Amino acid sequence: MSIEIGELASNGIIPGLAAVLVGNDQASEVYVRSKARAFEKLNCFSETFRLNEDAKEFEVISLIHQLNQDSKFHGILVQLPLPKHLDSQKILSEVSPKKDVDGFHPVNLGSLLEGNPNFIPCTPNGIIEILKYYKIKTEGKHAVIVGRSNIVGKPMFALLAQKMEMGNATVTICHTRTRDISYFTKQADIIIAASGVPELITGKMIKEGVDIIDVGINRVDDDSEKGYHLVGDVDFDGVQAIAGSVTPVPGGVGVMTITMLLSNTVKSAKRSMENC
Ligand code: GUN
Repeated sequence: MSIEIGELASNGIIPGLAAVLVGNDQASEVYVRSKARAFEKLNCFSETFRLNEDAKEFEVISLIHQLNQDSKFHGILVQLPLPKHLDSQKILSEVSPKKDVDGFHPVNLGSLLEGNPNFIPCTPNGIIEILKYYKIKTEGKHAVIVGRSNIVGKPMFALLAQKMEMGNATVTICHTRTRDISYFTKQADIIIAASGVPELITGKMIKEGVDIIDVGINRVDDDSEKGYHLVGDVDFDGVQAIAGSVTPVPGGVGVMTITMLLSNTVKSAKRSMENC
């Protein structure tokens, strides 16, 4: 990617990301800061646009419209979750699909389902890259996704079930209304844990050799100086002796999400150059 960034720079283009942050969610602050740091490190540009917790829908939308028109930004990211009074789906659909580096716009999600993806949501795309890097085959495997969010679960299903390299899996999605999650996870060759429930997946719920991708980042209060520590959706110590592999939290999927965001922003910047 650094070669592509260098080529763009020699044409006077610095890949730019606009991050929209509404309110004071601590986890979102951390995410946005680490994204900004990663962009800086690779000589890309990012700017965070902050709005108050009580921002009105039209204020968020008019900021997005302004960013859609601003050519120094090749990508726009609306940090989720948004405060409860805002309609996330409506707001996300206002981002130009051409700058939707999160891949959350209905047009981009539709293209992904169709099997003709444009911008692929960063966390699922990062997970595919992890599976590819570690040569974990998906074809013919039973992949169980725990969690049906628009950010991870649903696009993850679209990728794993797709007729493509790193797809062709048989995919089950478990969620809050699933009667017995462990019935499914015990049959899984691959588990994608993305429920947002701390350490939901335990050693008793898996079969030997399963490859586990832990997407969760949950704060658990403790007596430490910070007052909390981070855990995933998987009981890491409990599954380690049984699983074939398991990604750590932190330092696992999160790093790949940011890398994919950079990659999508560079892709968008390249397109803007080609269209000049
Ligand atoms: N909140 C948690 N994950 C994400 C993500 O990938 N993108 C955005 N915009 N918000 C998030």
